[in-house]
Amino acid sequence: MKNNCVYIETYGCQMNLADTEIVIGILKSNGYDITEKAECADVILLNTCSVRENAEQRIYGRIGNLKTLKADKPHLILGVLGCMAERLRHELVEDKKVVDLVVGPDEYRNLPSYIDVAFAGEKGIGVKLSRTETYDDIMPYREDGLQAFISVMRGCDKFCTYCVVPFTRGRERSRALDSIINEIKELSNRGFKEITLLGQNVNSYLDGGTDFADLLSAAAMVDRTMRIRFSTSHPQDISDKLLYTIASHPNLCNYIHLPVQSGSNRILELMNRTYTVEHYLGLIDKARKIIPNVSFSTDIISGFPTETEEEHQMTLEIMKKVRYDGAYMFKYSPREGTKAYKMDDDVAEETKTRRLQEIIDLQQTISLEINQSMIGKEEVILIEGRSKKSNEFFAGRADSNKFVIVPVTEGVSEGDYLRVKINRGTSGTLFADFIEKVNPRSDNLALTA
Ligand code: SAH
Ligand code: SF4
Ligand code: F3S
Repeated sequence: MKNNCVYIETYGCQMNLADTEIVIGILKSNGYDITEKAECADVILLNTCSVRENAEQRIYGRIGNLKTLKADKPHLILGVLGCMAERLRHELVEDKKVVDLVVGPDEYRNLPSYIDVAFAGEKGIGVKLSRTETYDDIMPYREDGLQAFISVMRGCDKFCTYCVVPFTRGRERSRALDSIINEIKELSNRGFKEITLLGQNVNSYLDGGTDFADLLSAAAMVDRTMRIRFSTSHPQDISDKLLYTIASHPNLCNYIHLPVQSGSNRILELMNRTYTVEHYLGLIDKARKIIPNVSFSTDIISGFPTETEEEHQMTLEIMKKVRYDGAYMFKYSPREGTKAYKMDDDVAEETKTRRLQEIIDLQQTISLEINQSMIGKEEVILIEGRSKKSNEFFAGRADSNKFVIVPVTEGVSEGDYLRVKINRGTSGTLFADFIEKVNPRSDNLALTA
């Protein structure tokens, strides 16, 4: 008998990408085949995101779209995984009856049995959150490649007042160090060159007496030719130990994603972010002292309830002070069930839009200035492949996560490290000349310039 075929699409953050690989791992070991084409599938799964209203709207649109496939294939099962499954289970399977299956982030182990329930004509519903599930023992399914994401912890206990994640992902729990290190070893053996360790707040990683700094050290030592990145750090919990650890391993990237959200202490308090602008700026200074050439990116929300024009200006101010290399910028979106949902969403839509645009414009200017100031400097980049725009160029990334374009050179291929010299910069991209190939094993482990 032919195996059932599953098609899966992933939305939202990197945690969802990592979860999809876990889901595929589970499905494959239960005899399912994976297909790249929705039309060929017996089961269609959407791994979804609830973080903002428009993320959910987009997925509702996609469900509507995929439902038309049921006309020709009545046995087709349509399922929602991820954060929307957790948040909208009633709406999705009971009220609107738009899907046959909803399975939340802590129930993927049982996904095959929920699919069986759906094949039998019932609704497959698995949305229990767990205090312990980390999928430690499940090997995620990954195609060969250079870069991989590994979840090192799940859930979030921070309860920022605007955020659904603590509700859709449940309580914080860390995965065992050994299982993470074994996975990195396996990826190293398969030729992977860059690992990103993931969690909603990686700084609260704890396995017995092992904290996140210990985990980073252990990860860095698996394979010195492999770059290690991590995301996301909460500004409250970054320790000096963590900063010194980053500084002491050449293959731990000098790049920290440190979401600030707002430049106003009053708004930060309403958001329950638990730090002040002063604490945050102190942290940035300290990190810059301990880790030479460290770069930062951030997340910013515009138009949180009661945000005044002056407070919006404070956000622009902190951006000018820090001078982020990059930023993810969003309009506040009220999410039912969160604390902020009870506050009046009183910043007018056009004001939110205008403030967001000012934030985006400022970041563009800063990124452009930073990138142009790099002209003439040397960087070590990891070649990821050909540039999407031209076959005559390679695309790669610097230690700082900056995107670098360099001409194709003989003897160079994907996965090589190159020393290059920057000759041009736009706000999103650096252009460089080839200097030499770097062998990280013999060249004093130098993955930075
Ligand atoms: N745990 C991570 C990421 C959380 S989600 C962190 O704390 O940084 C990624 C980003 O989405 C958040 O940092 C925040 O800027 C944004 N976000 C979360 N909820 C939002 C909401 N209700 N409206 C607008 N942006 C939101
Ligand atoms: Fe959401 Fe805050 Fe947790 Fe990040 S730290 S996931 S923004 S609650
Ligand atoms: Fe979205 Fe859930 Fe990630 S809400 S951002 S997919 S944790």
